[in-house]
Amino acid sequence: MTKETSNAAIDDYLFEPVQLGPLSLPNRIVMAPLTRSRAKEGDVPSELAIEYYSQRASAGLIIAEATQISPQGKGYVFTPGIYNDEQVKAWRRITDAVHDKGGRMYLQLWHVGRISHPSIQPDNALPVAPSAVKPEGQAFTNDGFVPLVTPRALETSELPGIVEQYRTAAQNAKTAGFDGVEIHAANGYLLDQFLRDKTNRRTDQYGGSIENRARLLLEVADAVVGVWGGDRVGVRISPLSSFGDISDTNPEPLYTYVVEKINALKLAYLHVIEGETGGTRDVPGAFDLQVLRRAFDGLFMANNGYDKALAQSTLATKRADLIAFGRPYISNPDLVERLKAGAALTEPDQATMYGGDAKGYIDYPSMSDEAAVR
Ligand code: PHB
Repeated sequence: MTKETSNAAIDDYLFEPVQLGPLSLPNRIVMAPLTRSRAKEGDVPSELAIEYYSQRASAGLIIAEATQISPQGKGYVFTPGIYNDEQVKAWRRITDAVHDKGGRMYLQLWHVGRISHPSIQPDNALPVAPSAVKPEGQAFTNDGFVPLVTPRALETSELPGIVEQYRTAAQNAKTAGFDGVEIHAANGYLLDQFLRDKTNRRTDQYGGSIENRARLLLEVADAVVGVWGGDRVGVRISPLSSFGDISDTNPEPLYTYVVEKINALKLAYLHVIEGETGGTRDVPGAFDLQVLRRAFDGLFMANNGYDKALAQSTLATKRADLIAFGRPYISNPDLVERLKAGAALTEPDQATMYGGDAKGYIDYPSMSDEAAVR
């Protein structure tokens, strides 16, 4: 084999079509969920998001940014919601535009739990969590960054209401025209706070043993699958990440249990952040996340710091079925075409990542824009 043909063969992996439940994905490239903090008053996605997402419609799958399932689920100013009609209508315009361009789009369902602040909670209430354990870190509020507070521990009797928030949001996502939903159980937000023992100190049936700490996530997954069917639902986890001031004393059996249990739901995919969210892929003392890949029956989506070479070799060695790209998708609307062409990628501008307007949002050039100005 010549060098050219062997490279061409390797190139096939990212561009090999794959079936995700009922969706035929033309490639293995996923746009990861990315907070961009540009929602309008009332947590309504902005008009600009129509252009932003449809510019990226060549992705095998777009996973829309983390979206709060209720006012209580909100943790940052300017993030969108999926809990009322106005939000649903705004999302519908976005999914229609993506579908018109031939794309496919999931919504990420989000409840932040303790990563919030009274100033952005209904009635200035304390944020809720499995236990009253204060996170280190800052909340992004209308007054800028302020220290996070000690949350209020949820009563056992409130947990069915949390499951209902997810069920209603899942139903709303359907009305809004999405192709499926991703349950956000990663990055130290509510479901992750229940999973891990640094944040879950409960003594009821939702705390203590692995089975108990996994209970809320499994109930939420059941409810969401009840709305969508398993083949249009994914779950995102970050077993090794400390993002959100979180950890677990023994993550391998915890996450292995979660994966074995969710297999019964025949989910579309498991989305795994490898290592520290947005940081190192190599966490000291970490367990091998391929344990979860082997335990899971559906497609395995890997994320965190991938470039083309690592994506190709990961797919070639069957360590994942799909690769989710985050940062590169901020600044490369035509990431699929650029990876295919082996073209240079544009670096994202940190200053316009969160908040603001069109600048740094919908004005990153595609290769054809670049050719036109040359
Ligand atoms: C964020 O808004 O900073 C954010 C949201 C969801 C994540 C991670 C970070 O999973």
